[in-house]
Amino acid sequence: MELQRQPEQARRAPQIPERPALAESLVRVVADTYAIAFQTQSFHWNVRGPQFAALHRLFEEQYGELTSSVDELAERVRALGQLAPTSLREIMNFTTIPLDHGAPSARAMVEILLQANELVARGTRHVADLAEQAGDAVTHDMLVARTAAHEKAAWMLRATLEE
Ligand SMILES: [Fe+2]
Repeated sequence: MELQRQPEQARRAPQIPERPALAESLVRVVADTYAIAFQTQSFHWNVRGPQFAALHRLFEEQYGELTSSVDELAERVRALGQLAPTSLREIMNFTTIPLDHGAPSARAMVEILLQANELVARGTRHVADLAEQAGDAVTHDMLVARTAAHEKAAWMLRATLEE
């Protein structure tokens, strides 16, 4: 779907030619981060079973971290001269992670979030490379940090699946 970002882009000529494209890629990271934050919070609410207390707390820590990072990412999009997402529809259209899982078993929730974190980490790693190619050290650093955060979240989720 085509983004409606041209007017602002036209008013503010980017200093580096690659930056509009980079900001578009960053919008996808914002959408992924927002989507995985919601999914994690929904599982925090709906988790059931013997692991309830531990997973309820782990999911809370993880969606809290995601929620503060999405703010930083969206503000970086603005700093690059593009609009941050303006609707939940836009978030839904741009995220790459599958949503709408209902309220499955606690183990399935962990598996879903593990796969989602791995998928988002692949995206942040890719956009980190794009930022480096564009000579944008700030965006690159931010995305390296996001990749590390998603890999850490994936490790914690993976560890809870072990017998
Ligand atoms: Fe809560």
